[in-house]
Amino acid sequence: MIADGSGTSSALAPEGLVPVPVSGLRASSLSFALYIRRNESEAPQLYRGGEYPLENADLQRLAKRGVETLYVRSSDHATYRNYVLDGLARNDRLTPPERYKIIREVYRVVFDEAFRADTLDPMIEFTEEIGAELAEAICDNEIVLGDLFSLMEHDTGTYTHSVNVATYSLVLAKALGIREMPQLRAVATGAILHDIGKRQIQLSVLAHPGPLSPQQQEEMRCHPTIGFRDLASRQEISSGSHMMVYQHHERIDGTGYPVRLTGREIHDWAKICAVADVFHAMTSQRSYREALSACKALQYLEDQADVTLDGGVVRCWTAIMSNSLNP
Ligand SMILES: [Fe+2]
Ligand SMILES: [Fe+2]
Repeated sequence: MIADGSGTSSALAPEGLVPVPVSGLRASSLSFALYIRRNESEAPQLYRGGEYPLENADLQRLAKRGVETLYVRSSDHATYRNYVLDGLARNDRLTPPERYKIIREVYRVVFDEAFRADTLDPMIEFTEEIGAELAEAICDNEIVLGDLFSLMEHDTGTYTHSVNVATYSLVLAKALGIREMPQLRAVATGAILHDIGKRQIQLSVLAHPGPLSPQQQEEMRCHPTIGFRDLASRQEISSGSHMMVYQHHERIDGTGYPVRLTGREIHDWAKICAVADVFHAMTSQRSYREALSACKALQYLEDQADVTLDGGVVRCWTAIMSNSLNP
């Protein structure tokens, strides 16, 4: 073992490691090794073997040195996740927003890996896990959306978009009367997966800096159908979650896609997902435009109520957000 990164052996290629926040660690025994990177030009080195417990003095030294990030092997990430989630379950001093923030952070790395994987399996496994954690963190507590909103990232990255849409969808689902935890978990799953079809869209279209050409738009518009098709044989995905993937771009006046469904033909959960999706898209920064303020996005949603978006869902969302922004 190399205490406090003072030795030089055991350097690993950074791509074999994933970053973990020091704030998620506690004085306890570990069953995974931790690595430290002393500067950007050096590969991380072994900081502490899994057989040695982490102590308060170690955490204090790291804090004193300003070390906020350590690394674990990617093959140890599941063990690390269990360690963090176990710590959350034991720590009743954490506030619901603190709990929510740790859950967001712990899954970020696995999401990016799973989204890029050749098969859907890791993504499905991951989604069910984070869906259950988010549903509990958000719906088991009297959580105030304003407290979450201030600590959520608002960029357009796939992870941020998926988790924000899931967070908004869960808050909406609960406010609209969905109380059973299996259903709330399914709402979270559908919301996290809603853009899963984008895995198959060319990067040149996905990462296009600026408004899309008509041809690019056409390609992008295939993502709900691709997602629906890819998930069709997955027994573990409920039909409600599946419809969130397929119908989140349908609009009640028939102007949406891929099928131009109208009003009642659209699944209730897809209507929830549509409002959450539009709200996040408008309040996140794009390469070609600034993020809109929450107030401006709410104004837009109100204009769309009973026109393109379900009026009941929009009114529910504007009431929740208005209370959260102006308590
Ligand atoms: Fe979408
Ligand atoms: Fe989306």
